[in-house]
Order: sequence, then C-alpha cells, then structure tokens
Amino acid sequence: TTHRVRIQGSDTPLEVAADQSVLDAVLRAGEWLPHSCTQGTCGTCKLRVLDGEVAHNDSPDYTLTPAERCAGLVLGCMATPCSDLVVEPLGAAVDDGAPRHPLRDHDGTVVVLDDIATDTRRLVVELDEPMSFNAGQYAELVIPGTGVGRQYSMANPPSESKLLEFHVKRTVGGRATEGWIFGSLAVGERIELRGPLGQFHLVREQAEPAILIGGGTGLAPLKSIARHVLDHGLVPELYLYHGGRRRDDLYDVEFFRELEAGYDTFHYRPVLSEEQWDGATGMVTDVVVEDFRSCKGLSAYLCGPPAMIEAGVRALKRRRMAPRLIFREEFTVAA
Ligand code: FES
Repeated sequence: TTHRVRIQGSDTPLEVAADQSVLDAVLRAGEWLPHSCTQGTCGTCKLRVLDGEVAHNDSPDYTLTPAERCAGLVLGCMATPCSDLVVEPLGAAVDDGAPRHPLRDHDGTVVVLDDIATDTRRLVVELDEPMSFNAGQYAELVIPGTGVGRQYSMANPPSESKLLEFHVKRTVGGRATEGWIFGSLAVGERIELRGPLGQFHLVREQAEPAILIGGGTGLAPLKSIARHVLDHGLVPELYLYHGGRRRDDLYDVEFFRELEAGYDTFHYRPVLSEEQWDGATGMVTDVVVEDFRSCKGLSAYLCGPPAMIEAGVRALKRRRMAPRLIFREEFTVAA
C-alpha cells in the first residue's frame, strides 16, 4: 500500500509506501525537509502532522517526548504513514540557496581499500551512475544481506560524482566495520549505497573566512568541502584543523600540505593531543582558540565526536563567532 503526503505550503502530494519513512519519500521525490542523522537521534526532522495518522516505529523518547507525540509531532525519518498525510516542518528549513539533490539507491564497485591510519581505512567506490551531492553530505553504505545502512561522509568533491571516497574508523565488535569493511570486504566487490543525505555543506560563495575543524575520520566531509571550496574560490580564507591523538592517527597530511602549497588562501594545521612532535599539540579546539583571538565575522564547520563538537562550539562562541555561522556534523553511534 501507498499513501500520499503533502507538505504544508506545497500543492503536490508525494507517494509514500506504508513501510517508508516520510523523510525518505520526500527526499527521493527531490523535495526537501530539514534532517541530519536520519536515525532518530538528532530531532532535526521533527514535523507537525496537520492531518492523518502515522506509526512512530522506533522513535526514541529522548528525541520525541510523549508530550510531543500527544501534540501531534513526529520524527520524519522514523514515522511511516497509516493514512494520507499533511505535514509541516517544525523548524524553518534553512534555505541558503544550496542545490537539493534527490536521494537515490546506487550500486558500485570497491576500487580502493587502504589502511591509512590507526584502525582507519580509505574506501573508494566507483558508482555505476553518478551521484550529485553537496560537499559535506553523506551516504549510507548497506551492509550486505541486511538492508542495514551505515553512514559515511563523502571525502571527494562533488565534481567526482562517480568516484566516492569514504574514511572508515574501526569500531570494536562493529557489524559494519570489524564485521565487513575491516573484515571480508575486498577490492572488486560490489556494494550498495544510498545518498546523498544530510544538510552539512559548504557549496555557496560566502564573504566570511571559514574554519574547518575535524576529529579523526571527521576529516572526510571537510576534505570534500576544502577541495570544492578551493576549486571554486568560494571563501576569502580557508583554515583546516585536523585533530588526532598520535601521529599514526593522522592521514592525508601530505595531501593537505601540497594543497596548502598550491593555494595562498588555504591553511592546514594538524594537531596531536597525546604526542609531542614538530606540529601543534593539545586539543584541536584549544589550538583553534589560540590561533584566533576573535572569531567575529568567521564561520566554522565541525565534524567529529560529540565531545569535540561541544567543546568547539563553546570555544567559538566565546571568541564571538555568530551561532548562525557555526555548522556541525556529529558522529552517530552505530558501529
Ligand atoms: Fe530524524 Fe535526526 S532524528 S534526522
């Protein structure tokens, strides 16, 4: 069975299968709803149901409280339709003029699978058909035979739309990492994925210099952004900070040093928190704060573990960065 969902303010109803999330249907139709994690943890996709009934499925109480359910709110990424629906996004969708690329299923072949740092692999997938996306967005790799997806940001720029690069950190006991990407997966194998997803991006020209701050494989979307931004000259100055514990946790250091040599506007600073070396040491967000006495008039893009992001956002606000110019992509918990 299918139902129809209409977003308040739009005239065109969209088809939603009974087992499909409202968000999935909307994104596949090339329409847009605010969203980030697509797995019920962030709350960005909250909708008000103006008409119709939904099943909440596994919507967690900490994201959607019982009181919110009573008030007719749902998580767009979890809710499936029980009838035709009219919905309205709770937050205003941020429209910064970035293109919106429809969500699609893709097939591809693994062409690179390399160890690049401690418990970290680079996975490059050559797609059968190109995928359009915004620098900073992610895709869901499907664990074979399960239909279960795991989320990884594209590290390549959108111009390389058939050759997707992902950075994967091993999680002990992780079904997708130990059980697959660090286990049986090999070059030449076929892989399924869906994308693009998420609203973390930098694709439009902006007047503010941008600071990119990544922890571990949080570097991936920032690499995509850096390459895209530099290719197109989108910002006056671009600063990239990459934090790891030890030298062996860092990767693509040579790549970024060469990029830095090629662009006057690009500044790269790798930071180690647990090892002395000839580069910066400490917590990556502390090093940013030392480098910038004032962050007024700058923007920031952070990706990494939640603790790093929290510390970073606090520090940037203390340095007077405008909250609307701070963008974040948190690692999600699934392994
Ligand atoms: Fe739905 Fe995060 S809770 S996108």
